[in-house]
Amino acid sequence: MTEAAHRIARVSARRVWDSRGRPTLEAEVHLPGGVTGRATAPAGASTGRAEARDLRDGGAAFGGYDVTRAVRQVRDTIAPALRGLDVCDQEGLDRILIDLDGTPDKHRLGGNACIAVSMAALHAAAAAARLPLWRYLLGGEPASLPLPEIQIFGGGAHAGRRVDVQDFMVMAVGAGSFAEALDWTAEVYRAAGARLADAGRLQGVADEGGYWPAFDTNEEGLDRLVRAIEDSGRIPGDEMAISLDVAASEFYRHGRYHLGLDRRVVDSDALGDLLAGWIDRYPIVSVEDPLAEDDATGMRRFTAAVGDRVQVVGDDYLVTDAARVEHAARDAACNALLVKPNQAGTLTETRAAFDAARTAGMGTIVSARSGETEDVTIAHLAVGWRAGQLKVGSFSRSERMAKWNEVLRIEEALGAAAVFAGARPLPRPPAP
Ligand code: PGA
Ligand code: ZN
Repeated sequence: MTEAAHRIARVSARRVWDSRGRPTLEAEVHLPGGVTGRATAPAGASTGRAEARDLRDGGAAFGGYDVTRAVRQVRDTIAPALRGLDVCDQEGLDRILIDLDGTPDKHRLGGNACIAVSMAALHAAAAAARLPLWRYLLGGEPASLPLPEIQIFGGGAHAGRRVDVQDFMVMAVGAGSFAEALDWTAEVYRAAGARLADAGRLQGVADEGGYWPAFDTNEEGLDRLVRAIEDSGRIPGDEMAISLDVAASEFYRHGRYHLGLDRRVVDSDALGDLLAGWIDRYPIVSVEDPLAEDDATGMRRFTAAVGDRVQVVGDDYLVTDAARVEHAARDAACNALLVKPNQAGTLTETRAAFDAARTAGMGTIVSARSGETEDVTIAHLAVGWRAGQLKVGSFSRSERMAKWNEVLRIEEALGAAAVFAGARPLPRPPAP
């Protein structure tokens, strides 16, 4: 029997604006007595081919990114179908969204409409239970605060392809708490910016708030990161490690990798060797999408070479899809999953991919998109699902800081019960 207070009274949607100044969809799920859940769809720029498709208007207005059709789908199709249903039955609600859409990539209703409604329903369920979302998700299990993965330099599709590697990031593997990890990262971010400014190379920030780099080579990003870590007073490797999102699909054409900045065109083996060389020479603990989404052979080869030492993360390669995760686990093509709810289109499908990764012994990193808003759902998912890691972009711009700040609040609320994941989610380096 569904409690009357848990029956969905109304679902609504509106157009709001994301961090790139583009339209995006915000959904609300209303319960009796004024209880409401709200969530906003994020948007990627370097998207995987197999991810859920946003429904956009096309045409001239706002570069074709408008979402009036997706808003209409929520009002006309989704809202009537969900009215009266139990908001606590996330799987049941998501199943209705999946069936109503009826396409493999959610292009009919729109991945943006589906994920916003799915997340809004979760918020409403937590509100009805009078619990913060992270605590509602934990369901009595002990909490784990995620190791943050934070961008210092932004490149690729997020910075006019000024450098090929998309994200140069740090992970505070030696920090004792989430708050300390942010303290250390703030100092690295500041030090990296100061050096760039001194060198006359500071060109503002990229889409996720990392510095927009004017590097001469991709490798210069690694040198500058190590220097920034040292400048900040931390020990590279032991305290502050480096992680990369290569997003290699973005520069893969006709079976070759086009490193524009390095003026080199290389095959899969050569790119794998180049990255493995960086892993030998720099304190790198994680590499995302080292090879392209179509290059399964390259992914397997790379993971066989370095997967015992570093985390090899599938983003475009796995697109938060349970079947792809299971396949990649069988193939040993990577050893960690980037978890982006809007790639899947519903939270139930996101959770299925997450569970598949866990079952296979893979790491899990809950992740934002390059287009974001003040929505902090992913901060709650990272804690409530005990993902171990959280990737949000850089350490500037409020759509990023909103997520980091939310985890700070959660850590404070946990008090003595707060356990920081630290370096535990990462593969162990081989003993010297
Ligand atoms: P996207 O980038 O949101 O533009 O896809 C983020 C990432 O590649 O991890
Ligand atoms: Zn990525």
